[in-house]
Amino acid sequence: MKFLTTAGLAAMLAFGVSSTALAQAITIKFSHVVAPDTPKGKGAEKFKELAEAYTEGKVKVEVYPNSQLYKDKEELEALQLGAVQMLAPSLAKFGPLGVREFEVFDLPFIMKDYDDLRKITDGPVGRALLDKLDAKGIIGLAYWDNGFKVMSANSPMHVPDDFLGLKMRIQSSKILEAQMKALGAVPQVLAFSEVYQALQTGVVDGTENPPSNMYTQKMHEVQKHATVSNHGYLGYAVIVNKAFWEGLPEDVRGQLDKAMAESTAYANEIAQKENDDSLAAMKAAGTTTFYDLTPEERAEWVEALKPVHTEMADRVGADLIKQVYEAVGMKD
Ligand code: LMR
Repeated sequence: MKFLTTAGLAAMLAFGVSSTALAQAITIKFSHVVAPDTPKGKGAEKFKELAEAYTEGKVKVEVYPNSQLYKDKEELEALQLGAVQMLAPSLAKFGPLGVREFEVFDLPFIMKDYDDLRKITDGPVGRALLDKLDAKGIIGLAYWDNGFKVMSANSPMHVPDDFLGLKMRIQSSKILEAQMKALGAVPQVLAFSEVYQALQTGVVDGTENPPSNMYTQKMHEVQKHATVSNHGYLGYAVIVNKAFWEGLPEDVRGQLDKAMAESTAYANEIAQKENDDSLAAMKAAGTTTFYDLTPEERAEWVEALKPVHTEMADRVGADLIKQVYEAVGMKD
């Protein structure tokens, strides 16, 4: 389809080339920034497998991992322009697109586990957030999990004061910026593809990541310390170009919806184990000392980061924060 001119298309139709033959040429480019061996990477491969099987080859899915095609911000622009059809950006990266509400997921300690998350992503709050993408020419299909984040640096981080002056890489979320500032650190936004080198060369001192990202990017080789704080969550919205999706033959879209529902279940089922395995592998590698907070230290982190919720209420909406609190049973 890519190389088909309008005249070529008209000629094919004039000669009675069936819509099935045309549909055979549908290609979905699915671009992402992480390694293939991560919850998102495996979810994308599962979608490819199921989509190609259910559409009986009418749709070809090409997965491009590791920022091969585009880095963080560029991939969203590429989706809007139709250069790629499908992405799964982190929920922390929708601000530049003008949909800041997803940053509610970045609020520190707002969700304690995957069960809390499901209450948001599988409920009306999650659906309403995805619907906000419509105005940007994007359809939100699903939420895919990664996991809860650890903090890493070259010095131990037991209490908030340990962050004083540390340069910490963050994703492009104002809430994450506020979180790092609340700890006394200096936040710096960098594309995911640049993080390893920035840590290695000392452009930044540390960062935060779910273990699966830290491990598959080999960040543990250049970070001496990490705290398993689970202070925040990192997950994804799987999104498609709206014009592309709505232009698909209805039967094909139905088959792709089924493939997406099943690959979502798969990605969310493996996420916890992928992260547990990555953490274990990094501990075994022995290049990073992993630290678990004592209950007292954790209480200090919670106390230091609580003001971020009120400070950022205008950014994501006080009502939205309240809805999330209610859904997960958190007291203000
Ligand atoms: C990051 O930039 O740290 C993550 O969003 C990467 C990813 O897609 O998991």
